[in-house]
Amino acid sequence: MRAPVAVVAFERPTLRVLDQTLLPQEEHWLEIGDLETLEEAIRSLRVRGAPLLGLCGAAGVAIAAERDPGDAAIREAAARIGRVRPTAVELATGAAACAAAVLGRAPEERAAAAWTFCAEYLARRQAEDEAIARNGLAVLPPGDVLTHCNTGTLATGGIGTALGVIRAAFAAGRLARCYVTETRPLLQGARLTTWELVKSGIPAVLLPDTAAAALITSGRVSAVVTGADRIALNGDTANKVGTLGLALAAAHAGVPFFIAAPVSTVDPGCADGSAIPIEFRSAEEVGGFRGQRWSPGGIEAWNPAFDVTPGGLIAAIITERGIARPPYGPGLRALFEHAASG
Ligand code: MRU
Repeated sequence: MRAPVAVVAFERPTLRVLDQTLLPQEEHWLEIGDLETLEEAIRSLRVRGAPLLGLCGAAGVAIAAERDPGDAAIREAAARIGRVRPTAVELATGAAACAAAVLGRAPEERAAAAWTFCAEYLARRQAEDEAIARNGLAVLPPGDVLTHCNTGTLATGGIGTALGVIRAAFAAGRLARCYVTETRPLLQGARLTTWELVKSGIPAVLLPDTAAAALITSGRVSAVVTGADRIALNGDTANKVGTLGLALAAAHAGVPFFIAAPVSTVDPGCADGSAIPIEFRSAEEVGGFRGQRWSPGGIEAWNPAFDVTPGGLIAAIITERGIARPPYGPGLRALFEHAASG
């Protein structure tokens, strides 16, 4: 299965990425050759989505190594990029993995080795997405599906995680349409997921976030599938804010709620969801969009970018290594340890 578009390219000495803040109106590529520009792109969600953030973290190390391949500069760059957004674990682990891969080499080889690491990381990512899609088909019931945020090519560089499962189900004739939440406040569903689905010829139905519980209880969807930014060992899962509400509505309606994510999303440092750091964003993002304001200036907002869904509400976690089911502790630990050793 093919991703509908290319969204990331490693072209030494720059990282090229599609600017996701301009979609779907404009397909504009950014050329990033310094850490300040990369930090701004990550902070403002020009690049976003947990797996793609991992790739960007690794690219940050490659960019830094071009200027200074010394141990301290590489370690500092990895730490600095890893701090830009706190919730998606892979931003920091992607940067750290790239740093670890090059630090064993002679300084003059490090920049080239870091770009090679990035290219291999992307290829691995694409293979993982394919495996997640295959595994997802084994558990997803036939029928239409609801998804949240954007978990597609724009979020991974491959066919996507939850969206990859949806693509595979559509290709297998098991769903006729994909329902997509708008995903306020930055509209990753309304702008990005619909853009990908239209490009792929998969019928998409957009709904306001506020209509999701009504949709789930209406009997129109046979499952809800989302991605993840960080998964604790007990299965508690951080994902785009609003995911918890979908899981609660799905539990009430008896509709299975699935997470699709690579094993690299599991954070063995988090025993449960209370240890997952949640990013809070500015009030401006809630009170307006792209310069248009609808709330009076100075209004306060409570704007968490993510929420945590308890593992007990998740029917299964679909990974490239297999399916984890509740109770999650032993199964997730085994998948993680297997991935770490292989
Ligand atoms: O704030 P974002 O757009 O980076 O949030 C993205 C999500 O929450 C995705 O669902 C998650 O990263 C998984 S992407 C495969």
